[in-house]
Amino acid sequence: MDQLIYNSIIAFIKERFSSDSSGHDLSHTMRVYRTAMTISSIEGGDRDVIAIAALLHDVDDCKLFGGKQGSSDTSRSFMIKLGIDSDIIEKVCEIIADISFKGKDTKAPNSLEGRIVQDADRLDAIGAIGIARAFSYGGSRGRAMYDPDNKPKLNMNSKEYFANKGTTINHFHEKLLLLKDLMNTETGKRMAESRHDYMISFLEEFHSEWDGVK
Ligand code: ADP
Ligand code: NI
Repeated sequence: MDQLIYNSIIAFIKERFSSDSSGHDLSHTMRVYRTAMTISSIEGGDRDVIAIAALLHDVDDCKLFGGKQGSSDTSRSFMIKLGIDSDIIEKVCEIIADISFKGKDTKAPNSLEGRIVQDADRLDAIGAIGIARAFSYGGSRGRAMYDPDNKPKLNMNSKEYFANKGTTINHFHEKLLLLKDLMNTETGKRMAESRHDYMISFLEEFHSEWDGVK
């Protein structure tokens, strides 16, 4: 990608996520970008589309900025302002619209590029960093870590998923533990394994400490 375009995108996302405390700061975007480029070096895909989509993937997220679920309006206006080719803009907007987890209404993007960026985003939601991000997100939204009387809700549709105000431990059962089997690419699947196992050990330890076994 052109260096000037890359620099402009970085400056834009740095500003847009500057006050984030929900695990969606610039460092999340940069990890997704690096992981997506690593997956792409094995799986292929158009590297400009992957890079731009990874960098802009959370810019229109309705959990963070309100607005319509699946919108890509802010990313689109920004890319037009940068003079990015219209066919790249269309591909990136389609990826952004489909990337997020939405319970049983979750969709795998149609393109290989989208599948790679979705895998990279999901890898940052699991493992040690995923655990840290989940508790940051919960804290930023005033959610309890855990409440044994509040059970996970499985099989939510997108409306129920976005309205849900459960605990962070529930979020592991409602989303994070499901991601390993939802990975799109072989490379993503391989990378998800040890991160998944780490979350299982974390939950075992969490519950045994909670129950006073340790
Ligand atoms: P997605 O768009 O698929 O939700 P994001 O890049 O926005 O992916 O990151 C989502 C991350 O935000 C989750 O993996 C988790 O760390 C955090 N998160 C979202 N919803 C919750 C929740 N209800 N409780 C705790 N963490 C959450
Ligand atoms: Ni993300």
